[in-house]
Amino acid sequence: MTSKGLRKIFLDFFKSQGHIIIPSSSLIPENDPTVLFTTAGMHPLVPYLLGEKHPEGNKLASCQKCIRTSDIEEVGDKTHLTFFEMLGNWSLGDPKAPDGIGSGYFKEKSIKMSYEFLTSKKYLGLDKKYLAVSVFAGNENAEFDKESYDIWKSLGFSKKRIAKLSQKSNWWGPAGQTGPCGPCTEIFYWAGDSQTIPDEFNADDDNWVEIWNNVFMEFNQVKDGNDYKLSFLKQKNVDTGMGLERVLSILNKVNDIYKTEAFSNLIFKIEQLSKKKYNESPEITKAMRIIADHLKAASFILGDDKGIAPSNIDQGYIIRRLIRRAIRYGKQLGITYELWTKEVVKIVIHDYLEQYPELQRNADFIIDQLKTEELKFKKTLSIGLKKFKKIIKNKTNGLISGKEAFNLYQTYGFPIEMTEELARENDLVVDKEDYLKEVKEHQKLSRTASAGKFKGGLSDARKETVRLHTAAHLLLAALRQVLGNNIFQKGSNITKERLRFDFSYPEKLTQEQKQKVEDLVNKAIKDDLAVKMEEMELKKAKDSGALGVFDAKYGNKVKVYTIGKDNYVFSREICGGPHVKHTGELGHFKIIKEQSSSAGVRRIKAILTHI
Ligand code: ALA
Repeated sequence: MTSKGLRKIFLDFFKSQGHIIIPSSSLIPENDPTVLFTTAGMHPLVPYLLGEKHPEGNKLASCQKCIRTSDIEEVGDKTHLTFFEMLGNWSLGDPKAPDGIGSGYFKEKSIKMSYEFLTSKKYLGLDKKYLAVSVFAGNENAEFDKESYDIWKSLGFSKKRIAKLSQKSNWWGPAGQTGPCGPCTEIFYWAGDSQTIPDEFNADDDNWVEIWNNVFMEFNQVKDGNDYKLSFLKQKNVDTGMGLERVLSILNKVNDIYKTEAFSNLIFKIEQLSKKKYNESPEITKAMRIIADHLKAASFILGDDKGIAPSNIDQGYIIRRLIRRAIRYGKQLGITYELWTKEVVKIVIHDYLEQYPELQRNADFIIDQLKTEELKFKKTLSIGLKKFKKIIKNKTNGLISGKEAFNLYQTYGFPIEMTEELARENDLVVDKEDYLKEVKEHQKLSRTASAGKFKGGLSDARKETVRLHTAAHLLLAALRQVLGNNIFQKGSNITKERLRFDFSYPEKLTQEQKQKVEDLVNKAIKDDLAVKMEEMELKKAKDSGALGVFDAKYGNKVKVYTIGKDNYVFSREICGGPHVKHTGELGHFKIIKEQSSSAGVRRIKAILTHI
């Protein structure tokens, strides 16, 4: 069975059961600023699980791309993945449930469909004797899930194969800090030796591999002062998730996710680049798994239409960690090929472009960013590793100090997690508290530009900078008119004298383009457009077409600045302000420089004259 085959058979099955197939959403969640990535198929459905009407109906299914970052450093064994695909089906409300809302289904139909899909010869045809399940045992907030227990029993599962487990294993969600959640029932498959299959299911035995989770989302976790509490949702929902790669490994009886077709081309490429074989030694296997997983995950984040590049914060930092850890293991494998990561990434793009065409759309960006990051890190990796060896040589206390770890980060670009991993390999630990103190100290010294960025506004409200800030909004709008709507702001820095503005665009601007941009801005100034501020919900702001680069950092209510006249809108951005009241106050706008900032990003410096 291949990834493509499994996706198809799953989605076809749920279609035949009256579900509408919805496409995979972005890896960067739209609705939940408390999480960095989409970690499950339910993320894009949160509003509908909470009671909004979904335009496609009450029964949905999808194959969603997901990223989980909680155990990046665990990747290297045969099961852990950072990027994976989740197959899932949903029911939004159930007419038979006491609330009677919705036209979907609840526990019985959900469990029975899962069981049929797994065991029927028409679908996966797994032998029931290899299956076991768990149900929620109950706690002070919610009762034992007897209904699910009884359904499994009615399907012929013996008591020994139905484990009653606590909240830790059998309660799912919310994905962030608040939102829909509920008890779940998980389905496991015995991936061990078929001769030794035990009668009794033991969730702690690694041979029992979890393959499907059915969550019965009837609760909402909400904030209660400084704490959280559960309340009932308006409707009873079903949310399920099945790890595609895991199921592939079961169906193909390989007992190693990296031996499935989802990784075969990647591993083959890494074997070629390193001139080593996957099974040559445990160290080589581990390194190849890390490279394959990390570069796949990095490609998907870079390729997500959001234009997120490696950086020191948020999703950008995760990309950086993934790429740098892959490069470190590439070095360990002895890959000497110049700029090799892009060769691996080309395979990812090739393997997935049919299912995820955004990878193809953003291929140049992905490859450029990888090249830049690899060049940057390769320069410092070797000397950094030498420095690390020197640091640990005479250690007697088993502790790497915060200063040492910070220096490895600052000077050699070692993410703290990498230093910690290196430390572990040498039976040492990093003094993390001390490290965080160093980081704080450093931030105090160099007041980061991002402090201002997160607020999305100016920290300097002198009239010169305020004018340039408004000019920056006009500039973005003009760039989009001239170069297209793919232009997004990547950063800005404003002093009393000039504005500096970074934006996504792969090429040098022509003289003519620069002139057009300048002319458009100057026309907007001449037209003396009004600058109007409104406060609104983030969603409404986005729906109104407001641009905002740092939306993950905003709360629910945002400020939107619109520059225009009557019904004519020249520019609309989510922004903290402040701004001038009328563009006529800006004088004359002039671009003084246009240059490259980093791969795929251009930088304009501009001034205002004749004020
Ligand atoms: N949201 C559930 C999970 O991720 C299905 O396991």
